[in-house]
Amino acid sequence: MKPLKGETRLPGDKSISHRALMIASLAKGTSRLRGVSAAADPLSTMACLGNLGVQISSNDAETVVTGAAQGILRAPTKMLDCGNSGTTMRLLSGILAGQPFGAELSGDASLRRRPMERVAEPLRRMGAVVETAPEGRPPVRITGLRPLHPISFEPNVPSAQVKSAVLFAGLFADGETSVVEATPTRDHTERLLGLASSQTDRGIRTVVRGGSEVAPLDMQIPGDCSASVFLIGATAIVTGSEILIRNVGVNPHRARVLDVLRRWGVVIKATGDRVCGGEPVADLIVRTGEAKGPLVIEASDVPALIDEIPALALTAMATGCSFRVTGASELRTKESDRIAVITAGLRSLGVVVDEWPDGFAFEETNNVLGATIRTEGDHRIAMAFAIASLRHPSIQLDDRSCVAVSFPDFFATLDRLHGRSH
Ligand code: S3P
Repeated sequence: MKPLKGETRLPGDKSISHRALMIASLAKGTSRLRGVSAAADPLSTMACLGNLGVQISSNDAETVVTGAAQGILRAPTKMLDCGNSGTTMRLLSGILAGQPFGAELSGDASLRRRPMERVAEPLRRMGAVVETAPEGRPPVRITGLRPLHPISFEPNVPSAQVKSAVLFAGLFADGETSVVEATPTRDHTERLLGLASSQTDRGIRTVVRGGSEVAPLDMQIPGDCSASVFLIGATAIVTGSEILIRNVGVNPHRARVLDVLRRWGVVIKATGDRVCGGEPVADLIVRTGEAKGPLVIEASDVPALIDEIPALALTAMATGCSFRVTGASELRTKESDRIAVITAGLRSLGVVVDEWPDGFAFEETNNVLGATIRTEGDHRIAMAFAIASLRHPSIQLDDRSCVAVSFPDFFATLDRLHGRSH
């Protein structure tokens, strides 16, 4: 098998792209964003903001967003279609809670199965009227209130999306809203809004003062660390590979996966450490590394690498290693039930898998069968099995197009690193 060689860039970070677009929409003045991800999820955010009257224009170099005066958007004339994007739906709910009009958010079949009460409940406590469909699923109907009531919120699931929704709503409250997280989650919203956080005995407390003016942004968005992990996994799988991935966001709440992969035996060297758009960024030199043993994800690491579990599991499988993750029941609430979809895919390849409500495990497998994997349209499932197929070409996907949700150039990038024309 031909090793991966060469250098590459990544799409702009998806989480930061959503937030930067939303914050720019609420800012006083014009924001200039470079490197916004052109993947389907951030495009859903842009389309929703467009339906809320925000002016957004993009060319090859930058995305220019004209913020709405006092953060008051325009009532939408139609349902806000969030596509496949949970981040769009949950974060926008926080903004809509503080708008002087009603709106309805929905999305594709996958998004319409995802839990929304976790964000509806605190927003109701702040005074917005929020209705969800049976079992707390979308569509979500919100009638906003301004000013909202400030709250002190302690989420019972670690979720950056729920935290961010409450912080966004807090911008429109008459007083100080705080979120205390027992388990820290990605802090991009806090960084972009310049919010202060402090350690308390109940966890990290972040405070937002209602009525504060949101400053426009002028920034370069870092490359998506979550996307990098599929390329790092491919490098680990194909012996003799060495690649350089430029401009990777290495925020400590996102980069735990790099430490896990290093400990497991992949060589990942960060160079040119710098700060970009308020986020730490580095170039990563990645090499296949030595023979590796069991890959075990500790429950305490799960919130920091929840999106990376499909890539980690399939990297372990394709390198003939065993794998185990527990404490990951949140995986069942993602774009698909990722525990069910990964374990079903692995079983179709002949891997003997144990499955629990909050995790799964398998032993090392050398005899991998051929099968067409049912991705359930989940981008991270498709990319995870795609990197395993580099070692086991008999693995096929029922849908390759869903990678466009977060990494439209994924297959072209892999082909280029393989020295194949696309
Ligand atoms: C995200 C937070 C995480 C993550 C998702 C993106 C974000 O979800 O899984 O892909 O941008 O805030 P939760 O907040 O549900 O944990």
